[in-house]
Amino acid sequence: MTKKVFLDLGKQPIANRFTSEASEDEFFFNLRVVFDQDTKLVSLEEFVDLPMMFNEDYVYLSSASKTMRDHFAQTACDFQREFKPWLVMEIGSNDGVFLNNFNRKTAFSVEPCTNFANITRSKGYTTYSEFWSTELSKKIVEEKGRPDLIYSANCMCHIPDIKNAFLAIEKTIADTGVFVFEDPSLLEMLKRNSYDQVYDEHAHVFSVTALQKILESVGLEIFRVQKLDIHGGSNRIFAQKVNCRNRGIEDSVSEALQEESIFGINLKETYIEFGKRVESSKKDLLNLLESEKRKGKKIVSYGATSKSTTVFNFCGIGPDLIDYIVDTTPAKQGKFSPGVKIPVISPEEGFDDSVDCAFLGAWNFLDEITKKETEFLKRGGVFLTHVPTVSVIKQRT
Ligand code: TYD
Repeated sequence: MTKKVFLDLGKQPIANRFTSEASEDEFFFNLRVVFDQDTKLVSLEEFVDLPMMFNEDYVYLSSASKTMRDHFAQTACDFQREFKPWLVMEIGSNDGVFLNNFNRKTAFSVEPCTNFANITRSKGYTTYSEFWSTELSKKIVEEKGRPDLIYSANCMCHIPDIKNAFLAIEKTIADTGVFVFEDPSLLEMLKRNSYDQVYDEHAHVFSVTALQKILESVGLEIFRVQKLDIHGGSNRIFAQKVNCRNRGIEDSVSEALQEESIFGINLKETYIEFGKRVESSKKDLLNLLESEKRKGKKIVSYGATSKSTTVFNFCGIGPDLIDYIVDTTPAKQGKFSPGVKIPVISPEEGFDDSVDCAFLGAWNFLDEITKKETEFLKRGGVFLTHVPTVSVIKQRT
């Protein structure tokens, strides 16, 4: 066995399945993470069936934050300028926040969540409401032809059989085409102790090292790696067909591989140490929340994220410590957070003068949130975070 478990986050629910009732029964699974010493891939030990997570009730809305809306608009603009693609395909288009920037006749998407597929369709884009697969790839090539650009943001890491998914990309893309995908970076997760990047949807947390091996095995090569601040540190990978080699391999690829190697991404000890830091983070966070509570402070959480589902269920943080979660997504409001069942309400309803402390469930949007919540900070409110270490964020003096 080359796979070793290095992190056990306990029994966890479906991270994005907010329940209507506090008493509702839920599906739980063992959230354990393995490092494969052979492939260097970090994955969940137990995968959750895709339709249990991605279906007509999926609530994650890509355009919920300004950061993400700006990110996708800029991305589309950059791709149009550099690659000038004719046929564009997106895998995991959500509400079409990226696709919106392309011509309806030549851009189309794959989106298995039917609620979001219907939104993308209503904007005039052909949308295949299916999971990405070899069969779908064949259908697309027949019906649409071979895309010049395939883009996928925060979606490839959801696919358990990732090798087959990449193989299907290789069979779909035009010979001169570019495949660009971005997902949370394993290196950044290890550096920032952001263990909450691990939840049911993230079947894998990718390193460039592991991706290079898998992509090469299916005839694709990485020609550029771009580091992004998005989602708490992501890698954007640019790949092309090996046998066509349309573009030279840029230095960013060897630089990324070298940085990962120096950090120890290939060593099992790195993961064992990370596991220990996660246990300390849990203790520190509980200590902080309990001590604020003892002082009589009102604590809420900011952003009903999948990440906070992991943190709350791993640390055993429920409504006794956190009164409620505020979130701008209408589909999450009026519901209860998965597992620990903390109520979710809108910021208008709950982010008022009575709040003393706000745990940053959406710590990855720290800049956007602190910019927006200057009044809260000014009146002495504080944000609490566990990334990169458990700490209190106050107004800068
Ligand atoms: P994200 O961090 O992308 O979540 P996940 O861990 O599920 O990938 O999601 C951010 C969530 O926080 C989303 O539900 C919207 C919410 N949010 C707010 O409520 N207010 C804000 O100011 C921001 C930036 C996000």
